[in-house]
Amino acid sequence: MELAVSTEMKVPAWILGILILTSSHAWSEEAVAPGPFTDEECIDCHTERDPILMRQWREGPHATISGVGCSSCHGDIHQDSNPRARKDYSCIGCHTGPASHSYSTSKHGVINQLEQPKQDWKHPLQRGNYRAPSCSYCHLHDNDHGDTMAPNRGPELRMWICSGCHSPRYVREQLASGKRLLKIADLKVQEGEELIASIPDGKSNLLPKLRHNLLYHRQNVLLGAGHQSPDYQWWHGQPALDGDLIRIRDGVMQYHQNKSLGTDP
Ligand code: HEC
Ligand code: HEC
Ligand code: HEC
Ligand code: HEC
Ligand code: HEC
Repeated sequence: MELAVSTEMKVPAWILGILILTSSHAWSEEAVAPGPFTDEECIDCHTERDPILMRQWREGPHATISGVGCSSCHGDIHQDSNPRARKDYSCIGCHTGPASHSYSTSKHGVINQLEQPKQDWKHPLQRGNYRAPSCSYCHLHDNDHGDTMAPNRGPELRMWICSGCHSPRYVREQLASGKRLLKIADLKVQEGEELIASIPDGKSNLLPKLRHNLLYHRQNVLLGAGHQSPDYQWWHGQPALDGDLIRIRDGVMQYHQNKSLGTDP
């Protein structure tokens, strides 16, 4: 109708109307665009939206310097971006070995594995939403993109997170006993290091390997205490350290024997 009356005047306005409609539609689509995106695109857009989260990520263990961008945990599309990151499989692909095994053999790991299929992963990682903690529940609690279990974040934060499910007294006891276990392990490491240092550098081809084992088993104690895994606290931890000390003493003794016999390399 209008087109027939005055083509020159009405058509541009009409087209303009459609242009405004489609372009504003395209804009609102872009605000929650489905993806896929590259990590650079996630970082660009979210630096403005979530400055605190992005600072935590930059200063935490996962950042572009450690090669872990957003999509390693979230995937590269927006749909189910959060549920994907909350599940253990977003972590255990990279953190294989003792870090994952100590957790999967703990009560938390076992319960979480059993609950996984019926758990609603759309819920934020906060108290009341989960029966047992997943990796991210403890380490990236409540949208924190640093490491909420890192010692330099202070004991109160850890205390608060555990106390979402346990009584504060129980948690205090657990954390104190974990601290004691690690202190004992550190004394053993110190003793081993001192024995190793008593041998001139490069004079034993056995000791570097023994030193490596010492630190490896110290890490097992840390994981055993942190992940509430009795196997790692004990079997893979303290007795393994005791074995290391025996072998280091043997190695040192061997060196001195060889030296006095003149077979020192
Ligand atoms: C063009 C800008 C843009 C890009 C690129 C972008 N996002 Fe987003 N993202 C948004 C906006 C806007 C929201 C808020 C949507 C909402 O709250 O409904 C959002 C929400 C999210 C959420 C929260 C979802 C929820 O359910 O609350 C996550 C997680 C997320 N983005 C991760 C990512 C990741 C990972 C990437 C890269 C793979 C990425 N985003 C790329 C703009 C962007
Ligand atoms: C180590 C895994 C990991 C990495 C890397 C990671 N995230 Fe997340 N992210 C998570 C987890 C887990 C959650 C859900 C936390 C919760 O529910 O409390 C989350 C939540 C979010 C949310 C939702 C915040 C809200 O307020 O609802 C946004 C947005 C987000 N991440 C963006 C990013 C961006 C952008 C990057 C890259 C710079 C990134 N994440 C890197 C694991 C990760
Ligand atoms: C793409 C691989 C990758 C993914 C996915 C990943 N990480 Fe990491 N993570 C790393 C790297 C690399 C580092 C830094 C080097 C290191 O300390 O091992 C790291 C460091 C850490 C640290 C600190 C370790 C330390 O020695 O201080 C923790 C804790 C951690 N990640 C937990 C998680 C959790 C929980 C998830 C899942 C939500 C996850 N990571 C997902 C690769 C990954
Ligand atoms: C109940 C909470 C909890 C859960 C669940 C949990 N962690 Fe931990 N994690 C800790 C604590 C506490 C530590 C010890 C941190 C410390 O004292 O350095 C730790 C230590 C670690 C470390 C070594 C950090 C270091 O300093 O060397 C890594 C890596 C890690 N966890 C990854 C994971 C992964 C992967 C999962 C899931 C498979 C997971 N964690 C599940 C609490 C948890
Ligand atoms: C989301 C809830 C939740 C969080 C958070 C949580 N736990 Fe647990 N924890 C549980 C459940 C459930 C059990 C199993 C209780 C049972 O034995 O019936 C459990 C069991 C334990 C056990 C007993 C293990 C055993 O072998 O008997 C210890 C110790 C423990 N948690 C310590 C911690 C510490 C320390 C933290 C924080 C780093 C923590 N928990 C965080 C839910 C949680």
